Amino acid sequence: MTYFSVFHRMRTALKVIALLLVFSHAVISQPGNMHVKYDASTRVFRMDASGVTYILGINDREQVQTIYWGNRLSPIDVFPAARAARGFSGFDLPITLTQHEFVGWGGGIFLEPDLNITFPDGNRDLVLKYVSNRIENDKLSIVMKDISREVYVTLRYAMDPETGIIRRSAEIENRTGAPFTIEQVAAGTYNLPHGSDYHLHFVTGRWAGEWSVQDEAIRGGKIVLESRRGTTGSQNNPFFAIDRDISKDQEQGEVYFGALAWSGSWQISIEQDALQQIHITGGLNAFDFGYRLKQGGKFETPEFYGGFSSQGLGGASRLMHRLEIDSIVPNAPRPRLRPVLYNSWEATTFHLEEAGQMALAKKAASIGVERFVTDDGWFGQRMNDHAGLGDWYVNKEKFPHGLKPLIDKIHSLGMEFGLWVEPEMVNPDSDLYRNHPDWVLNFPGRPQTEGRNQLVLNLARPDVRAYVMGFLNKLLAENQIDFLKWDYNRNWSEPGWPDVPLEDQKNVYYGFTKNFYGILDELRTTHPKVEIESCSGGGSRVDLGVMRYTDQDWPSDNTNPADRLIIQNGFTYAYSPGLMEAWVTDSSNLPNRRAFSQEFRFLSSMQGALGVGANLNQYTPDDISVAKRLIAEYKVIRETVQRGSLYRLLPPEGSSEKSATEYVSRDRKQVVVFAFLRSSPERYPYPTLKLKGLDEDATYKLAPFEGKAVNGTPSVGSGAYWMNRGLDPSLNGEYQAAGFTLEKVTPAQ
Ligand code: GLA
Repeated sequence: MTYFSVFHRMRTALKVIALLLVFSHAVISQPGNMHVKYDASTRVFRMDASGVTYILGINDREQVQTIYWGNRLSPIDVFPAARAARGFSGFDLPITLTQHEFVGWGGGIFLEPDLNITFPDGNRDLVLKYVSNRIENDKLSIVMKDISREVYVTLRYAMDPETGIIRRSAEIENRTGAPFTIEQVAAGTYNLPHGSDYHLHFVTGRWAGEWSVQDEAIRGGKIVLESRRGTTGSQNNPFFAIDRDISKDQEQGEVYFGALAWSGSWQISIEQDALQQIHITGGLNAFDFGYRLKQGGKFETPEFYGGFSSQGLGGASRLMHRLEIDSIVPNAPRPRLRPVLYNSWEATTFHLEEAGQMALAKKAASIGVERFVTDDGWFGQRMNDHAGLGDWYVNKEKFPHGLKPLIDKIHSLGMEFGLWVEPEMVNPDSDLYRNHPDWVLNFPGRPQTEGRNQLVLNLARPDVRAYVMGFLNKLLAENQIDFLKWDYNRNWSEPGWPDVPLEDQKNVYYGFTKNFYGILDELRTTHPKVEIESCSGGGSRVDLGVMRYTDQDWPSDNTNPADRLIIQNGFTYAYSPGLMEAWVTDSSNLPNRRAFSQEFRFLSSMQGALGVGANLNQYTPDDISVAKRLIAEYKVIRETVQRGSLYRLLPPEGSSEKSATEYVSRDRKQVVVFAFLRSSPERYPYPTLKLKGLDEDATYKLAPFEGKAVNGTPSVGSGAYWMNRGLDPSLNGEYQAAGFTLEKVTPAQ
């Protein structure tokens, strides 16, 4: 072989190696592609997707341990085998200082448990060790087992290819030959590296005041976000975000975030241990909980999602939104855009009847509404909230010929028809309760506490499940219903299930929610065209669990357009604006007794899925024309608002008088900006809005659809201009709003 040919061959080989390296790097760094790998020599598992890498391993004590979670690493980065923590003192044993992926309670562990079991012989000690693993279709499962008893726990992991968000759950299997009681159970634990500067962001609320954004420093000890109410609740939402060195900038900093997919009592605990490591555990609430798992039985936990963003809280929210729209809601990744809806609840309350609904429907159609919803009051003896819940037959006085004439009319007007139901509830003044008083949650001989004059049906009971399934199937089979607004208007009380053996009575917590999902699932399969909204007296049941079966959510019964700016801002921390129903109503002109303009009301609602809940009979010709114009405008921007990337330019948090949001379409061709002013103390000018996420080399044409920009604002500018120089809305006075679109007029160079 000549010197030349050796050289040539070496050069070719080097080129191939270089190409392979470039290619492998390109494959691994290309957002969207997803890998799960296991290195048997180090017993290290690695998951990569989008911009995120998650690494765990089996340590020298056969425990499953977190190794790394954060920005995506290079394929050349390898990790040595995991090593369990060493003891710090006799008070903090190694087992408590190790970053366990799943904490079995026993063996001297003090961390928040993922699993705590009482066995029939009184033993309550559980020590889980690694058994085996399996990687299939990019999903990882790891089996663990107690050191002596036949209790198996399978940890399941999958990473969303587009967002890098991890979806994990655990399955507990009882092969001990006897039933045992699960006292506490969670999907798993996310662990963060040690640090003393972590901050937790979360949302709190109450009826008509949901979705307040809060933050607090994480210190030694435990913070618990939870619901003990039987349902998701609004006191906390099952969502968390954790950043470091709290930054006021929505787009800066590393953020760990996540959400629990469960609509029953839940808890997410955030614990800082003796080494300042953070453990985030999400699962069913341990309060009053119990689940008897029979021999041979399996228990599946809810899914606990966890993500990482290096683009601040704004980036974390956008990843959540993307996950929900592209992989959680029914018909993902291409769910229908939300139609513009009309609902007469605030206009008529319970006083609805055929002619009145038809008249409203005609008006609604004339302003561009696409779906008309008949709310509470159409069934049984439902004249007010004291009677009728549970009796799901059409009220003959209000609708003498059934719902058909109304539905036909609505369809003939070119709209879809929607109907309100509250399937899990009963008024004591109802035929259902008179016939089946034992169907409600109750402790025999104890008072039954009513909330909104109603009791909660025990949906964990097979007969109650069958009744609910039966009436819904009949309703949907007999009527051309396109949409259900599924409501749930109280929390649990006296959560007893006296008809089953004592040891099974607490299974109600798990069984209720499982049957709720089961019914929704069956409905979606049997009636695939019917869409469903999750409503719970406002936003008390919004979570990633119910979201798998529902197309949209009602964030709050508070429809005051100024309050809604705050409420909607909090909602979007975790959930997509494309799922957030927002009505324009006549709701109170408070605060300040200033009248809100129609424009302010509309722009506030156009930031989500636009609906109208006003009394259209009282609309003036001017109101009608504003409504028509802005509904038409909404249809032009709706895809961007519902599917695009949201930037909270000026969040209405703290005492801010101003707020602004920006939405960028996925192809970056359309940008929508909303700006609101609640008051102008001392006449300071409105802040310049530096836009985000545009294509900097492209040219965008600015067009206001409401209000205007300050004089001298160019009508065209580069993406770089709008992002660096920014946009100045011309807003003065009180309760003013402006809206703009920017359309791309030239492609990027
Ligand atoms: C709840 C809902 C409202 C309305 C009423 C009807 O409060 O959130 O939108 O449907 O019930 O009773």
